[in-house]
Amino acid sequence: MIQAAYTFPSSFLWGTATAGHQVEGGDELSDWYTWEQMPGRILSGHVSGGACEWWDGRWVEDFDRAARAHQNAHRLSVEWSRIEPSLAVWDDSAIDQYRTMIDGARKRGLEPMVTLNHFTLPQWLAERGSWTCEESVLWFERYVRKVVSELKDLVKIWITINEPNVLIYGGYVSNEFPPGLKDIRSVAPVLRNLLRAHSAAYHAIHELDAQAQVGIAHHYRGFMPRNPASIGDRWLVRFKNRNFNELFPQALINGHPHFLIWQDDIPQARGTQDFFGLNYYTTEEVAMDWRNPLNSLKPGGYSQDADLSPSGFLANSPQGFWQALKWAHQYQLPIYVTENGTEDPDDGFRRNYLAQHLHQLWKAVNFNWRIKGYFHWTLVDNFEWERGWTQQWGLWELDEQTQTRKKRPSADFFSEICRTNQLSSEMVLRYAEQVFDDLFPPRGASELLT
Ligand code: GAL
Repeated sequence: MIQAAYTFPSSFLWGTATAGHQVEGGDELSDWYTWEQMPGRILSGHVSGGACEWWDGRWVEDFDRAARAHQNAHRLSVEWSRIEPSLAVWDDSAIDQYRTMIDGARKRGLEPMVTLNHFTLPQWLAERGSWTCEESVLWFERYVRKVVSELKDLVKIWITINEPNVLIYGGYVSNEFPPGLKDIRSVAPVLRNLLRAHSAAYHAIHELDAQAQVGIAHHYRGFMPRNPASIGDRWLVRFKNRNFNELFPQALINGHPHFLIWQDDIPQARGTQDFFGLNYYTTEEVAMDWRNPLNSLKPGGYSQDADLSPSGFLANSPQGFWQALKWAHQYQLPIYVTENGTEDPDDGFRRNYLAQHLHQLWKAVNFNWRIKGYFHWTLVDNFEWERGWTQQWGLWELDEQTQTRKKRPSADFFSEICRTNQLSSEMVLRYAEQVFDDLFPPRGASELLT
C-alpha cells in the first residue's frame, strides 16, 4: 500500500470559522433576532436563542478545544448590534467583551481573523432600510473605525463583509434572509452600497493600521451544465458565474460593477483587497428551462450520481473546489480559504469530504499558489440561518438544551492534520478509507496516468 503525505507550507493557518450570531446567543438587537421571531421564517420554527452561549462565556471552553486540537487560527465575527445598539450610541462593554475573547484566542495560539459584517445588521438599521439605505455606507464606516481603533493591537486580518452575493440573494431576491425583499430592482442599490461600504472600510482600516490585511469572504458556488452539449445550459452556467460568482470581486478590480442592464463607477473600490477570502461548499448542476426561463435562475440541483450530504443540502464535489481555487488564483492575491465544510450529524460523509477537499487544496499549494490558510466551517454545531438547528456542521456535536459538546471523529482527523501540517496516507486510511484510492491511487493506476 502506498505511503505518502501531502505537506503544507510551514506558516500555514489552520482553523475553524464561526459567526457571532450563530454562536453567541441573545443577539436581541439584531435584525436576524427580530426575523426569527416571525412565524414561518426559520425551518421548524427554530430561533437562535442562546446559540452556543459564547456571549455567556462558553467561547472559553470552545477556544480551549480548538487550541488543544492544534488549530493555530480562528475566524470569528463581531456583532454590530452589540457595539452600536442604537444609532450613534456605543456600548463599550461589548467591545471589552470582544477584546477579552480575541485576546483569549491569541493567548491560546489562535491567530484571529475578524469579520466585521457576517449577514446581521442592527435592528435600528433594518428599520431604516438595511443595505438599501444610502447612509448605511457612512454608518458602516463609522462602526468599522470604532472597532478597528479599539482592537487593532490584537487583530491583523480583517474581513469586511461575508459573502456579499449570498447576502444579496437571500435578503433581497429570494426572501430567505432579512430584510425579506423579493425584488430584483433592489439588487443594484444594495450592490452599490455594499461596494462603497467595503471600500470605505478598507481605506479606513489601512489609515488606522497600515500593516493590516483586509479582504472579503467571497462565496464561490460551482456551476456545471446538466447537458454539456446544450447551448442553453452552457449559457446559463456563464450567466450564473458572471452574476453570482464574479460580479463583486471583479468590481473590486476595475471599480466598475455591472449587473444585467445596470452599471456604475466606484473608483474607490479598485484594488481594495489584500487577500482573496474564498468560501466554497459545493457545485450544482444547471439546466435551462425553456418553458419558464425565469425558473432557470433559481438554484439548480445536483446530478443523479452526486455524493449528497445527509439532508441532501450539498453535494461533495472536490473537483469544484479545485475550480474555485483556480478561479480565485486569477486575482493574483494571497488566498485564505475562509470557509469550507459540510453538514453531517454522523460524520462519515464529513471525513471523506475533508480529506478530498484538503487534497485539492494541497494540489494548489503544490503549484506554488499563495494559499495561506484553511478555515473549516465550523467548530461546534450552531444556528444555521434559515435552516435553524436542523443541520449539524460542527467538528464538535452540540446538544443545545444541555450545552454539552461531544467530539466527532473529524475533530481528531483535522487535529492530526493541523499538528503535522500534512494529510498523510496513514491518516486517510484511518479516518476516510473509502476515499483512499482516490487520494493515493494504487501503483497500477498512477502508472496509467503517466
Ligand atoms: C455560509 C455562511 C456561514 C454558514 C455556512 C454553512 O454561507 O457564511 O455563516 O452558515 O454557509 O451553512
